[in-house]
Amino acid sequence: MREVRVVLLPGDGIGPEVVGEARRLVDHVSNLDDMRVMWESHAVGGCAIDTYDKPLPDGVMEACAASHAVLLGAVGGPKWDTTDPDKPRPEQALLALRAGLGLFANLRPVKPFPSLYEASPLRTERIEGTDLLVVRELTGGIYFGKSGREGDMAYDTCTYTREEIRRVAEVAFESAITRRGKVTSVDKANVLESSRLWRDEVNRVAAEHPDVELEHMLVDNAAMQLVSRPSDFDVIVTENLFGDILSDEAAMISGSIGLLPSASLGGHGPGLYEPVHGSAPDITGQGIANPIATCLSAAMMLRYSLDAPRGAQAIENAVNTILGMGHATRDLGGTVSTHEMGDLLMSAAS
Ligand code: IPM
Ligand code: MG
Repeated sequence: MREVRVVLLPGDGIGPEVVGEARRLVDHVSNLDDMRVMWESHAVGGCAIDTYDKPLPDGVMEACAASHAVLLGAVGGPKWDTTDPDKPRPEQALLALRAGLGLFANLRPVKPFPSLYEASPLRTERIEGTDLLVVRELTGGIYFGKSGREGDMAYDTCTYTREEIRRVAEVAFESAITRRGKVTSVDKANVLESSRLWRDEVNRVAAEHPDVELEHMLVDNAAMQLVSRPSDFDVIVTENLFGDILSDEAAMISGSIGLLPSASLGGHGPGLYEPVHGSAPDITGQGIANPIATCLSAAMMLRYSLDAPRGAQAIENAVNTILGMGHATRDLGGTVSTHEMGDLLMSAAS
């Protein structure tokens, strides 16, 4: 039997609760691919600030780099919120991991479940048939540019190189080939120089993929189109900050951000998998968080990093089955607890 090493980073808030269910589920399906998972857990984020005075304790990056994949819950919470630039912040752990592991492409699929169309704030006829993938650039742009304060002035800079644009655009075009063959590149090329370079380089990548249709869209228009005609999108590729905002917006199409998984991938080394939602401090410790986003992230991990497609499919089918039967956690208007949802998914994934 094959052994794989997965680093678990439960993090803060509901992170440990949802990661716990995903772990049980992965262990439950791993025999389908003749595989055994060796788990190794580390503190990152706010809980690591409390214990080690830093969000990413020594050795955690190395442990992640030496693993086959990393599964993360969520980091952050009001306890560690600060506007003091000299204080550590939980999010620094996540940003350091993305940069340190070279995870430049963040994949966030959005495909509402028909049984949950009613849970979406959008009307069913608008969201019907939506099946889109946000490919967000994750290690460049304003998140990683030069920033600072000078007296009463503060600045953040957005820089991109052609190479940074090219490699994430290639992920988008390759993904589109396996889907409906359409890429929407989102930028602000009417204002930003970095967006004009973005557009130019995406055009070059498009020329190497004649079978994929490319359209460019300004980000303000994209924000509008996403809620007015979401089913027209296939693959959306965009820079870091626009992708952060648009992926939360796209998440609500499916009714709850508690359903959406994500995969962060790079050239080589392990991928990092995490739910799109945050640490949800308001419901922490109550056992009511929806573990589905993390379970679906684990399914992506099985497929993309662990060569375990049967387990991945079993988890995705189980989610479909259980939601289709009407079982719902509180975010979806039901009363099923986090742990009960884990049990239900395990029973449907055997
Ligand atoms: C996300 C989150 C992070 C981001 C935060 C926690 C730094 O919002 O993964 O979308 O902005 O990238
Ligand atoms: Mg975000």
